[in-house]
Amino acid sequence: MKKSTSTFLKHPTKDIINRSANPPVTRASTILFNSMQELNRHEKNIKANKKISYYSYGRYGSSTTIELENILKKLEEAYHVFLTGTGFGGVALAILSICRPGDEIIVSDNVYGPTKEISEKLVKEFHINAIFYDPDNFEDLRKKVSKKTKMILVENPGSNTFEFQDLSKIVNLAKRRNIITFLDNTWGTPLYCQPLKIGFDMSFVSATKYFSGHSDAMGGSLAVNKKVFKKVMFFYKLSGYRMSADEAYLIIRGLRTLDVRLKKHYENTKKIIHFLKKQKKIKEILYPHKPSSKNYKLWKKYYTGANGLFSVIIKSSKKSSVIKFVNSLELFGIGYSWGGFESLALLQDLRDETKYTQTRKYFRFSKDEHIVRLHIGLEDPKDLINDLRRSLRYVK
Ligand SMILES: Cc1ncc(COP(=O)(O)O)c(C=O)c1O
Repeated sequence: MKKSTSTFLKHPTKDIINRSANPPVTRASTILFNSMQELNRHEKNIKANKKISYYSYGRYGSSTTIELENILKKLEEAYHVFLTGTGFGGVALAILSICRPGDEIIVSDNVYGPTKEISEKLVKEFHINAIFYDPDNFEDLRKKVSKKTKMILVENPGSNTFEFQDLSKIVNLAKRRNIITFLDNTWGTPLYCQPLKIGFDMSFVSATKYFSGHSDAMGGSLAVNKKVFKKVMFFYKLSGYRMSADEAYLIIRGLRTLDVRLKKHYENTKKIIHFLKKQKKIKEILYPHKPSSKNYKLWKKYYTGANGLFSVIIKSSKKSSVIKFVNSLELFGIGYSWGGFESLALLQDLRDETKYTQTRKYFRFSKDEHIVRLHIGLEDPKDLINDLRRSLRYVK
């Protein structure tokens, strides 16, 4: 029977042996085989990416992580999905599987801070050169591609400043030059955007965010096509990347309600934005919220939905008053991450040179403009609006 994604997410897996609606949490290091022949046959099947229900050793995962891999494989329409213990592990896995000394990697300037740091600082020590491009200017990317370019790494939208790029253009450019493409799709999730279908070789999501949805689990999902499968598998096996069975279980549980939660985050966000639009202290809302907003067209072209993460540009000659605004919010926690049930706020200081990973080359804003990133959770939006209204008074 043909099923919609929403229905699929409610019935992706169960425990047939114990008749439970949820899969068992299989914690395992040793996996037992009936004979050496069976073990050898099984390892060959894994190498050939055949359908399996257990691995040959716990370092590669267990039946619980395979359940999660299969769900994500279907959502991403992927050849294979590699699971990692944190989202960032998935980014590192992608880069280190593909790039070798002498290669160049081209990275969009708006990527998540540690992604910037690994591309520029860590891989430099392995003689891999990182070049950053302006996410608002495709020509800048085109000009920077060279014979040495091995990989183009994109985050769409950038999770602080929310630029949307023309994804097919990037894919076409890369395909002509045989360059591997990677998209950080944590914001869109495969429910709203499927990078592998657009033509990217690798589609990455930090499962810590909306997949898990409850701020209590960490993980990464790197979905790949057949072209890069062997290279990533080689590095994955030898680097010891893995997701635990407990974490995989929590992420499977989160995925069951992903569609419902995303819709509610979006609904709440539209209400909050409706309020914020009318506030004089807010100069700009970095979210594709109306046809005239920046990048609305590119969002519409590649995404079927939006969520609860966006930034606002606040105009104030006193940075301390913007900090006071964030500090005085009662319902918005101050902390990293997003995608959980709760609202969060952060002043993202893109000028602070001491926070290397946040500084940006191409994002232009004046001295009296400050970026506050908000994650709108599942609380009653009326309460969130009251909290924002009360705290915005502190902005001078
Ligand atoms: C866009 C994006 N990519 C990757 C990551 C890394 O994921 P994790 O925190 O699960 O390591 C984050 C974390 O905030 C993120 O926001």
